[in-house]
Amino acid sequence: MTATDLYIDLLKRSLTNMIYLDAEIPNITDEEYAALLDRRTTGSDTPRPPFALTLIGWKRMTNVQELVERVLKEGVPGDMFEAGVWRGGAAILMRGILAAYGDTQRHVWAADSFAGLPPPRPDLYPADAGDEFYKEEALAVSLPQVKRNFARFGLLDDQVRFVEGYFHETLPKCEVERIAVLRLDGDMYESTIEALRALYDRVSPGGFIIIDDYGCLASCRQAVADFQAERGFTAEMTVVDWTGVYWRKPF
Ligand SMILES: C[S@@+](CC[C@H](N)C(=O)[O-])C[C@H]1O[C@@H](n2cnc3c(N)ncnc32)[C@H](O)[C@@H]1O
Repeated sequence: MTATDLYIDLLKRSLTNMIYLDAEIPNITDEEYAALLDRRTTGSDTPRPPFALTLIGWKRMTNVQELVERVLKEGVPGDMFEAGVWRGGAAILMRGILAAYGDTQRHVWAADSFAGLPPPRPDLYPADAGDEFYKEEALAVSLPQVKRNFARFGLLDDQVRFVEGYFHETLPKCEVERIAVLRLDGDMYESTIEALRALYDRVSPGGFIIIDDYGCLASCRQAVADFQAERGFTAEMTVVDWTGVYWRKPF
């Protein structure tokens, strides 16, 4: 392993808190540790991890790593963009990878309300009817807190741009021009389709679109299907794990 590989590996271990996993349960048993390690690997913790800066677990963090490294290696133009950042972990990884490879040109965009999910608007988006994510206080992480999380890793600088507010208000007028990796993690139908409508055209040919909630939320799958139907294409999805998928925008 090179020093770059080792840095990124340690960054992922830290962001997922796999590095201090056994401290999450007092007097942890071997069985508890094995089960916790499995949940953290697959990003399926309930309740949500107390110290990790990401919910997405090792496999989906590794997917972020692989796709960011691929666009850097292949010279696909554009920035890294995450819509739905929570404590910031996946976006911090994106910034860390740019730093590790000495990229001083690309930006990492972190878009979130920084106040949790919006209440559903079933009149506009019936697929979100009854959605209760907006009631989950644990999903509301403030912008100062997310900035602190970037700073903890020495990765808060001008290459990071924060976009604060609900996606339907912020993303259409967001200043990002070109995106190489677009990662959508907003859970709801509205959050997924609004982000696709606002940002898909800014994804470079050869860029990647990651949908975090595709496997676990029918409303998210529906949003992706409806967006593709609107645009008249069917993407060939690559499965990352039990919920994450991605596709590559054709050249
Ligand atoms: C599941 S969390 C994201 C997890 C994160 N990517 C990680 O690495 O752990 C969902 C996030 O999306 C945000 N979100 C969802 N829908 C949104 C919307 N329509 N506008 C703004 N933020 C939204 C929430 O505030 C929350 O922080």
